[in-house]
Amino acid sequence: MDSSVPSVTKTSPKPKLSRTITRIAICTALILTCIIVAIVAYFLITRQNNSSSDGVTTNISTSTTTSQKASTTNEVANSTLTNPISNATSTNTQCRALPFSSYQSYMTGSKPWSISITDLNNDDYQDIVVVNAYDPSVTIYLNYGNGTIRNTSLIIVGTYSVFVTAADLNGDNTTDLIVAQASANSLGVLFGFGNGTFNTRLNIPVGNYPYGVNAADFNNDNHLDLVAVNDYDNTASILLGFGNGTFQSYNLLPTGLYVTAVVTADFNKDQRLDFAATDYSSNTVSVYLGYGNGSFQQRQPYSTGKSPWGVAIADFNNDNYTDIVTANYDASTMSVFFANGDGTFRSQIVYSTGPYPRSVAVGDLNDDTNIDIVTGSGSGNYLSVFLNNGDGTFAKPMSLTTDAQVSAVAIGDLNGDNRLDIVTTSVSTKTLNIFLNSC
Ligand SMILES: *[C@@H]1O[C@H](CO)[C@@H](O)[C@H](O)[C@H]1NC(C)=O
Ligand SMILES: *[C@@H]1O[C@H](CO)[C@@H](O)[C@H](O)[C@H]1NC(C)=O
Ligand SMILES: *[C@@H]1O[C@H](CO)[C@@H](O)[C@H](O)[C@H]1NC(C)=O
Ligand SMILES: *[C@@H]1O[C@H](CO)[C@@H](O)[C@H](O)[C@H]1NC(C)=O
Ligand SMILES: *[C@@H]1O[C@H](CO)[C@@H](O)[C@H](O)[C@H]1NC(C)=O
Ligand SMILES: *[C@@H]1O[C@H](CO)[C@@H](O)[C@H](O)[C@H]1NC(C)=O
Ligand SMILES: *[C@@H]1O[C@H](CO)[C@@H](O)[C@H](O)[C@H]1NC(C)=O
Ligand SMILES: *[C@@H]1O[C@H](CO)[C@@H](O)[C@H](O)[C@H]1NC(C)=O
Ligand SMILES: *[C@@H]1O[C@H](CO)[C@@H](O)[C@H](O)[C@H]1NC(C)=O
Ligand SMILES: *[C@@H]1O[C@H](CO)[C@@H](O)[C@H](O)[C@H]1NC(C)=O
Repeated sequence: MDSSVPSVTKTSPKPKLSRTITRIAICTALILTCIIVAIVAYFLITRQNNSSSDGVTTNISTSTTTSQKASTTNEVANSTLTNPISNATSTNTQCRALPFSSYQSYMTGSKPWSISITDLNNDDYQDIVVVNAYDPSVTIYLNYGNGTIRNTSLIIVGTYSVFVTAADLNGDNTTDLIVAQASANSLGVLFGFGNGTFNTRLNIPVGNYPYGVNAADFNNDNHLDLVAVNDYDNTASILLGFGNGTFQSYNLLPTGLYVTAVVTADFNKDQRLDFAATDYSSNTVSVYLGYGNGSFQQRQPYSTGKSPWGVAIADFNNDNYTDIVTANYDASTMSVFFANGDGTFRSQIVYSTGPYPRSVAVGDLNDDTNIDIVTGSGSGNYLSVFLNNGDGTFAKPMSLTTDAQVSAVAIGDLNGDNRLDIVTTSVSTKTLNIFLNSC
């Protein structure tokens, strides 16, 4: 359960101890401990901000207990309430350290592979959906509102379902779910009743082995459309929505090899939605600029590390353009691409992650208004948390212990405190982990 402490605490005191195993060394260690405690007390009492992101803040936070966290929380809540957002960056440096410590664990089905955080029953609390590839099913977890969830149902879906996303596809103001049913070569749509239960599944045929799907209005008719990326035939299926839950199969675009994940944004700010997809075997992320009529320009590929899998988007460098990050599975890296604003992107900036990152999620975790990045290790039992330096570059990642073999990572506010929490799934333990933000 305990996560941030072993990973963030530096090992600097240990070499000193190992060099001389004498009483003097032990006394030195005790004195050092006293000094650290004194520093902690000093910081607690003065509540002084440390504007640098170096190790001092990190060390202090990891060696203290919940009392510091409580004071931190109050301080942040106050500064957020009283200061405009533009001011928060300069004043709010209380959450430089990793604001997560322990997690709650819940059972999933077999091979949990994707997470969607969304309000399913219109109570304004974020609920959680997990798709279990081997069962194949989705598990519905409703939120009590305090970050504690309960599994209310298990819904069977198509063979080897690997991805789930949420959107209101039929305009009834309740959330529907769209599942990529890879082995069934179709999307499964579950229309919500608004109480956490769903109508009979509608299957929509797409290309061969759909692995990711997104809902967005590509042709500006105020109805949501779908883009599905098909792993085995290297295509993207565009389905134009009628707004009543039915779709017109419209366009099949060529993609890179083994296209895996897809995200949607207006990258060139022309009020027409574009999308980007990772090409696992081409080692690229490709950008498709939309014409606003359901058609797209030819793909523009950008080199990533080996085997890009997960992809996420956000404005990392605060220039108001949407940037891209990919999790590069075989390279054990992530690539950050800054947008030029005209639909083109600068070359990747590469950061080492934990081994075999499959998934990546983004959000402001330490409440400094800058977007941070989390990747999950597909072979290990931890997340790599990259805090944004404020200019779109990232500090050395901090580790957060999870259950083993992280498959999916998602970010959302689960307990309504306006702080972003982290949700992960782990394959070998068949569990869902929830990390509540203590910032
Ligand atoms: C904190 O960590 C940094 C970097 O790991 C180290 O250089 C520094 O000595 C540590 N400070 C304390 C007070 O332990
Ligand atoms: C905000 O600060 C005031 C004055 O320091 C304090 O009385 C109040 O409890 C704080 N509120 C929160 C939410 O921390
Ligand atoms: C930030 O907020 C503090 C407290 O409200 C105020 O004193 C300060 O002038 C503000 N700074 C800027 C740059 O707006
Ligand atoms: C969730 O609950 C349903 C019944 O409500 C049950 O059939 C299913 O096994 C549960 N799933 C998990 C992962 O606990
Ligand atoms: C959240 O609320 C539920 C239902 O009221 C309760 O059972 C649970 O203990 C609460 N969890 C926490 C962490 O307060
Ligand atoms: C959905 O919500 C919108 C905005 O509140 C409202 O205009 C519309 O009538 C609602 N539609 C239905 C079917 O309830
Ligand atoms: C959810 O709503 C549907 C449709 O209104 C209804 O048939 C069903 O009984 C409801 N289920 C629950 C658990 O409230
Ligand atoms: C959905 O809308 C389309 C276009 O208006 C129409 O042809 C179709 O019959 C509708 N389907 C349903 C189920 O309402
Ligand atoms: C969509 O717009 C593009 C650019 O204006 C145009 O070349 C293309 O023919 C249009 N497609 C359709 C189906 O209207
Ligand atoms: C980004 O947009 C915000 C809000 O419109 C604006 O205040 C800010 O100056 C913009 N930043 C840049 C770099 O253009």
